[in-house]
Amino acid sequence: MNASYQDQGLSSERSALFTSILDRMAAKVAEDEPTLGVEFPQITAPDGKWVLLPASLSAGYSGSAWSHGNWFCGFWVGLLLTSYLHTGEDKYLSWARERMRLVAQRAQDPNTHDIGFIFDSSAVPGYEITRDPWYAQIAMEAADKLRARLVTTRSGAYLASWGPLDDPRGRSASAIDTMANLSLLYWAANHSGDGSYRLAAEAHSVMTAKAFIRPDDSTYHAVEYDVTIGVRRRGYTFQGAFDESAWSRGQAWAVYGYVNTARETGKRVWLDLAGRLTAYYLRRLDGRPVPPWDFDATGADAEIKDTAAAAVMASALIEMGRLHPDPADAVRWREHGLAMLEALCRDEFAYEPAQRGLLRNSCYSKPHNEGVDGATMFGDFFFAEALSRVMLPGRLRPDTQCVSLA
Ligand code: GLY
Repeated sequence: MNASYQDQGLSSERSALFTSILDRMAAKVAEDEPTLGVEFPQITAPDGKWVLLPASLSAGYSGSAWSHGNWFCGFWVGLLLTSYLHTGEDKYLSWARERMRLVAQRAQDPNTHDIGFIFDSSAVPGYEITRDPWYAQIAMEAADKLRARLVTTRSGAYLASWGPLDDPRGRSASAIDTMANLSLLYWAANHSGDGSYRLAAEAHSVMTAKAFIRPDDSTYHAVEYDVTIGVRRRGYTFQGAFDESAWSRGQAWAVYGYVNTARETGKRVWLDLAGRLTAYYLRRLDGRPVPPWDFDATGADAEIKDTAAAAVMASALIEMGRLHPDPADAVRWREHGLAMLEALCRDEFAYEPAQRGLLRNSCYSKPHNEGVDGATMFGDFFFAEALSRVMLPGRLRPDTQCVSLA
């Protein structure tokens, strides 16, 4: 049990629950690791077993079809590292290092914003925990590739999300998920002292705020830009219900990203924006702990939940609580995050041994009928990150203080 839970205003019941879930996480990860060979978990199949992919599977177009490649592989390293921090057992650190050797090749992938997800969940905490420069070097290579995706227009710059930049489809496309990939650039700026990584991330935040956020504070999943003028040509979706719908995980990625941008720039405007985006999410949540995969889904589809969205949101809100300069707001945001986390632990944890992964009822992509109802690797990672923010503060993610957010 974390000795400081009472200092953080955490009840002993919640602390015991979160500790027991971290225990179970570490046990499940240790059971699965020897069964994976050289591949990595992606989503669970209907029988509860992991679907595996090699880390080498790169993003790219096949004709007109875009494949995201394996953007899940770094999250497994993150779960191994969280298990190490929770248990103190060296075997997890050894496994993380072996896995990192397989993931490292993806630091050269120039075709996807997901390079942020892959390395911010693996090489970055690997370095923060071990101080081994090998991890930092891999993370910096990946950050260079992400920064190189900056497209400069007459009215600002954004990071293109998918595809080679010399392909017009890739150059003009940006996704709300990219906001959660900015963490790698912020880490690279802090680590190297080169502020251009931070400038690229903030430029992307500015442009996303203009192009993605609708008047009601919901967000588009994706935007096609006019690459010269830098305005939205159209908003659209891949994983939401329809182009104008509110894809719940997209809203969570936006909150997560703007909380990070607030912390790293010290600008209150980003914290306030994260608060408005959260208020929209909470309005549509209407008291439920876990959102539907899309707030505008109808009929039977509206019953399909996305626990990954809830995990991302819980992690973001706990961080927002830590950063907020107003004590009442800090408590309020943290409590929203803790309540979501508690509900995930009580009602959505995959307690049955046959069901691998941590969270049931994650929804990777309803329109593609892929990863609906089971665990997703990214949902599990952000769930573990949220738990670590509470139970292992400053260990997986440094407790960076901002200059001023007042
Ligand atoms: N590509 C990120 C997501 O599926 O949410």
